[in-house]
Amino acid sequence: MNSLPQPELNERLAAILAISQRMNSQRDLGALLDLIAREATSLLGCDRASIFLLDRERNELWSKVALGSEEILRFDASRGIAGHTALSGDTINVRDAYSDPRFYTAIDDQTGYRTRNVLAVAVRNQSGAIIGAFEALNKRSGVFTGRDEESLTALASHAAIAIETAQLIGELRRNQDELTEQNAHLWREVESRYATHGIMGTGQRIQQIVRLVGRIRDSLVSVLITGESGTGKELVAKALHYNSPRARKPFVALNCAALPETLLESELFGIEKGVATGVNSRVGQFQKADGGTLFLDEIGDLSLAAQAKILRVLQERVMERVGGRTAIPVDVRLLAATNKDLEAEIAKGSFREDLYYRIKVIHLHMPPLREIREEIPLLANHFLKEYCRETARGIMEFSPEVMRKLVNAPWPGNVRQLRNEVMRLTACARLNVIGEDDLWEGIPRPGRDQPAVQPVKLQSLKTAVVEMEQRMIAEALRETRNNQQQAARLLGLSRQGLINKMKRYSITG
Ligand SMILES: Nc1ncnc2c1ncn2[C@@H]1O[C@H](COP(=O)(O)OP(=O)(O)OP(=O)(O)O)[C@@H](O)[C@H]1O
Ligand SMILES: [Mg+2]
Repeated sequence: MNSLPQPELNERLAAILAISQRMNSQRDLGALLDLIAREATSLLGCDRASIFLLDRERNELWSKVALGSEEILRFDASRGIAGHTALSGDTINVRDAYSDPRFYTAIDDQTGYRTRNVLAVAVRNQSGAIIGAFEALNKRSGVFTGRDEESLTALASHAAIAIETAQLIGELRRNQDELTEQNAHLWREVESRYATHGIMGTGQRIQQIVRLVGRIRDSLVSVLITGESGTGKELVAKALHYNSPRARKPFVALNCAALPETLLESELFGIEKGVATGVNSRVGQFQKADGGTLFLDEIGDLSLAAQAKILRVLQERVMERVGGRTAIPVDVRLLAATNKDLEAEIAKGSFREDLYYRIKVIHLHMPPLREIREEIPLLANHFLKEYCRETARGIMEFSPEVMRKLVNAPWPGNVRQLRNEVMRLTACARLNVIGEDDLWEGIPRPGRDQPAVQPVKLQSLKTAVVEMEQRMIAEALRETRNNQQQAARLLGLSRQGLINKMKRYSITG
């Protein structure tokens, strides 16, 4: 370009600089290609200009704006002058298109345009790889000169940067749109699963709970959920969270019984790096739940020391990591659950009364399944439908005898055990109607183990249940050779739930 007289050289450089600035502010690829083409046309004083991008996989060239049209044009990269440039990297300056064998006449035939002369230069990205070809057609006066070649090459290198940026931004936008869509879909799923109607039951006892969950949806009071193992405590905690203004913030569940005392504090509050050799810093559950809900399951199993620390966080709304000095603000709604009688624990001195009143602003008690037998058909059918939907198995149903037995079974593991049993039945059933032969041993069969439902005097009901529970736990432990995890699964209990019952009945595993 330095062969140009100085004023003309300055003018061209200034023009290229101005074009480059305009290109860099255009983020939409289609509009950018259009802009580059228009700018090149006026800079070179020619009729038309186009940028063709190289699709290496398909060995094709494509452009959004081809010869002034808005349509996408695609053609074989091994044909035509632009293709030749894109594949070889050579600059091609043809004075008479129709006498050059590389010229591909089909496009002129299609568009009715008459190409006289052509200038094509490669478009290279910053690492030197060819990403396309820049082609100018029909110089208005005469033919394309060496200066035009230089100008188009300079313009092409600026265009390459703008094109790659626009492509990258386009890709990021598409990814983001896809993620936003996926996210919205997941939220709809989560919300419909844990909205109050995820709690099944039409009777008084369950309906009362459903109504209460609905009534406190806008409040962030602490709720204590009590009830035996498998009665739906966590289900209700999730319903409380997903129906609250915090629904789109995290729901973090922590089982206090599953953690040894030594780990509990760092699990709850996090730990600073270097507290002990090899310790990396870790965020605690309180911080993970920030803005959302922390569900402390089995809160009755917390040590007095841990209780004191939690109480402090609830009172002061700040916490410190283990080994840390800075007070970190916490914004967490607390939900707690236990199958222990906390008032009895308070009397024994193993649960703090002040913490009890903090967490029990509202108290929800989940009834054991044996007290809400009328809900069993609804629950069983609900789980059956869930199974059929998830496994895409056709419609299944229970035979009336099976349903009767489900209603009358003892269910020490409550709803979870019922759910497990339904899942087992459906998975094993050979026909679409689940019959008596598929039943679990623990469910009494008339004429074999014992008569159908024995009329039990109300007074002895509790004792009968206790006896049945003890027998079933012993049986499950024997069957699984004392594997508590498996025995708990068999009974529809959590492992901790089983351990609690074993402790209560002094059963040693
Ligand atoms: N009323 C209900 N409607 C629908 N599903 C229920 C209901 N109650 C319990 N479930 C289901 O039973 C299973 C056990 O419930 P969940 O885990 O909430 O019990 P839990 O009281 O927390 O038990 P654990 O004390 O063992 O932790 C879950 O699959 C839950 O969805
Ligand atoms: Mg639970």
